[in-house]
Amino acid sequence: MLLLTGATGLVGSRLLRRLTAARKPVRCLVRDPRRLGEDRVRVQIALGDLADPPSFRNALRGVTTVVHLAAAIRDQPRGSIEELNGIATWRMVQAAEAAGVRRFIFFSALGATAHDRTRFLRAKALAEEAVLAADLESVIVAPSIIYAPGDPFSTLLSRMALAPIVPISGNGRARYQPIWAEDVAECVLPLLGAVRPGEDRYELAGPDTLSYTEITELLLAAAGRPRPLLRVPTPIVSRTLRATEALLKSKAPATWDEAELMEVSMLTSRGTTDAQILGVRPEPMRSVLKLDD
Ligand SMILES: NC(=O)c1ccc[n+]([C@@H]2O[C@H](COP(=O)([O-])OP(=O)(O)OC[C@H]3O[C@@H](n4cnc5c(N)ncnc54)[C@H](OP(=O)(O)O)[C@@H]3O)[C@@H](O)[C@H]2O)c1
Repeated sequence: MLLLTGATGLVGSRLLRRLTAARKPVRCLVRDPRRLGEDRVRVQIALGDLADPPSFRNALRGVTTVVHLAAAIRDQPRGSIEELNGIATWRMVQAAEAAGVRRFIFFSALGATAHDRTRFLRAKALAEEAVLAADLESVIVAPSIIYAPGDPFSTLLSRMALAPIVPISGNGRARYQPIWAEDVAECVLPLLGAVRPGEDRYELAGPDTLSYTEITELLLAAAGRPRPLLRVPTPIVSRTLRATEALLKSKAPATWDEAELMEVSMLTSRGTTDAQILGVRPEPMRSVLKLDD
């Protein structure tokens, strides 16, 4: 039995589609099973929450492999970024060891270090340490920014583009190697095999290196709404988004913690090597967004 967390997310939904098509026995740890859509009848469901580590025990019964994708880039009413990404992963690893799990595949992020400026990447770094220290076959997958047409960021941008100018946070110079969510999901499959390729860390990157500004321009072009960008200085973005979050709580359309992630480069010098080791040749962003001609 494989336990998949984050099955309703960008990568998880695509991975789950592949797993159910291959008739693999899967259990999903979810907060709300309705968000699994049609797949919910093809999997076992364990109700659980990253903010409720005791829920992990039940979910892990009889499990040999965990793919831990669930994560949060903003605080939730029941847990902070640190609790949901750092402490929850540590607790899940402990529960997995106790349950006799063999392999633990953990999704971190490129550039996660304990001294990063963002709370999210610091929490991921601590989570990586917990996973690597465990008495399990640990695999860390560290992607650059992941995208798919219609994902929440593209949707937010295309709404913002109803205005004649689109604001972007900071100088827009942070650099990424965006990788398509379908390619990321495909990369996970060989890691589940009886014999996996052998490394314990895979850095997943697409073939392009693009700045935040360039990514925003491509997404706006794909939405059919090219717009001039207005660079808003970081202190103004930070103050505005913190005030919005204080007012709207979890309904805030964007938070400072999310915006700050777009000021930190996520690059690997390995380029697409690791994806290719996993049998995937990542698509360029322009071709996924059908902007080739
Ligand atoms: N997207 C990127 O650019 C990117 C970049 C680097 C690394 N990563 C990492 O790659 C992994 C997959 O990313 P993704 O983009 O597919 O994530 P995503 O679309 O944001 O999905 C997050 C998933 O986590 C679940 N989740 C959130 N809070 C939860 C909680 N309190 N309890 C249980 N489940 C919870 C969500 O479930 P609900 O349906 O209940 O909300 C959803 O299934 C994550 O670990 C992420 O940190 C992503």
